[in-house]
Amino acid sequence: MRTNRSFVIREGRFTNAQKKAFEELWPKYGIPSDDLEKIIPNDWFDVSQPVILDIGFGSGDSLISLAQQRPDLNFIGVEVYRPGIGAVLQKIHKQELDNIRVINADIMQLLKFKLDADVFLGVMVWFPDPWPKTKHHKRRLVQEEFLHQLARVMQPKAILHLASDWQPYVKFMIKHVAKVTEFIPTNSSINPLKLDRPPTRFEQRGLRIGHEVTDLIYQLEK
Ligand SMILES: C[S@@+](CC[C@H](N)C(=O)[O-])C[C@H]1O[C@@H](n2cnc3c(N)ncnc32)[C@H](O)[C@@H]1O
Repeated sequence: MRTNRSFVIREGRFTNAQKKAFEELWPKYGIPSDDLEKIIPNDWFDVSQPVILDIGFGSGDSLISLAQQRPDLNFIGVEVYRPGIGAVLQKIHKQELDNIRVINADIMQLLKFKLDADVFLGVMVWFPDPWPKTKHHKRRLVQEEFLHQLARVMQPKAILHLASDWQPYVKFMIKHVAKVTEFIPTNSSINPLKLDRPPTRFEQRGLRIGHEVTDLIYQLEK
């Protein structure tokens, strides 16, 4: 079994409503990655337009907010936490959003096996699990293998937007992104795609306990 996965499978807080949403709405908004050899993002939307990838969207509040703000973009959210997917499906349906699709999978598996090169205009990794203990650092998502794969699936000039409230992880991300020279720091906390980060649950929790929140934004030169 792999020990360096960036997540632990949890099903604990799957409410009946989330479970029902999962069953009923998944056929409409879900991309069944296990059944597909390749995922061609725009094949899953009614309108073909630039696609943004949100990795580990949690309860999906920011994903929903961005999709509402930007009907001119398509959004694909990837999450391993099924109750989170159930919750986001309910919100997508309630707000009649047609520009979001979700995938229930480990992003590493998608990057390695299912996604073609040059498909995303932007990628968001907001508040990835910090794995604070040194012995768990190998589980942190944002490190070389992930970043090399990400660079491959991003279009030239695409934007990578990272955010964290755990400063040791911020330093770790800066160090690891610097090793992948295609990512050029923009030295700004403003997303050039005008995808402003709405306050998420994790950010609010971080701020409440006195953590500083840092955005790291890179442009891909390849
Ligand atoms: C700390 S939460 C942040 C959620 C959200 N981005 C926010 O800002 O509120 C991190 C999320 O990433 C998900 N995650 C961790 N590793 C993942 C992976 N390899 N593939 C997909 N999702 C992952 C976790 O299940 C969790 O929901």
